[in-house]
Amino acid sequence: MSRIVVSIVALCAAMAASAIDLSDAQRAAIAERIKPMGEVCLQGDTTCGGAVAAGGAAMARSGEEVYNAACMACHMTGAAGAPVVGDVVAWAERITKGDDVLHDHGINGIPGTGMIAKGGCMSCSDEEVVAAVDYMVDSSR
Ligand code: HEC
Repeated sequence: MSRIVVSIVALCAAMAASAIDLSDAQRAAIAERIKPMGEVCLQGDTTCGGAVAAGGAAMARSGEEVYNAACMACHMTGAAGAPVVGDVVAWAERITKGDDVLHDHGINGIPGTGMIAKGGCMSCSDEEVVAAVDYMVDSSR
């Protein structure tokens, strides 16, 4: 009788041992599965699929996105005397200055006017502002 008990105990011990006998790969897979949501997506990591932090250098926003976020407030309404996007007449003369001047004014602003540098979007890269200027100009021809 006691021999049976001993062998059952031994069997249990063997099973318990095998239950925790995981390979490193299995442990890693489990750790991956039970990680809290969000922890695995680091800022600037474009492989996570989620929204990239605004202004993140990893992925530049399109001109339209930058316009909607940073320029529309003035350039849709004409606030502070801003030329309204889509107003062909208001833009015609400005467009004759050429892209370089318009890009420069987008990035550096026009001193003494409501057009402050980057429209006040300090998280916008120069490239993003240039894309926004192009979007505005293309929408106003
Ligand atoms: C606070 C209001 C305001 C915001 C925000 C703003 N603008 Fe302007 N913008 C103006 C005003 C006012 C003018 C007209 C300045 C003038 O010529 O008197 C202007 C003019 C411009 C012009 C024409 C420049 C020229 O040489 O004729 C461009 C291009 C422009 N803005 C781009 C942008 C872009 C790109 C953004 C967003 C990143 C932006 N603006 C955000 C107020 C604004």
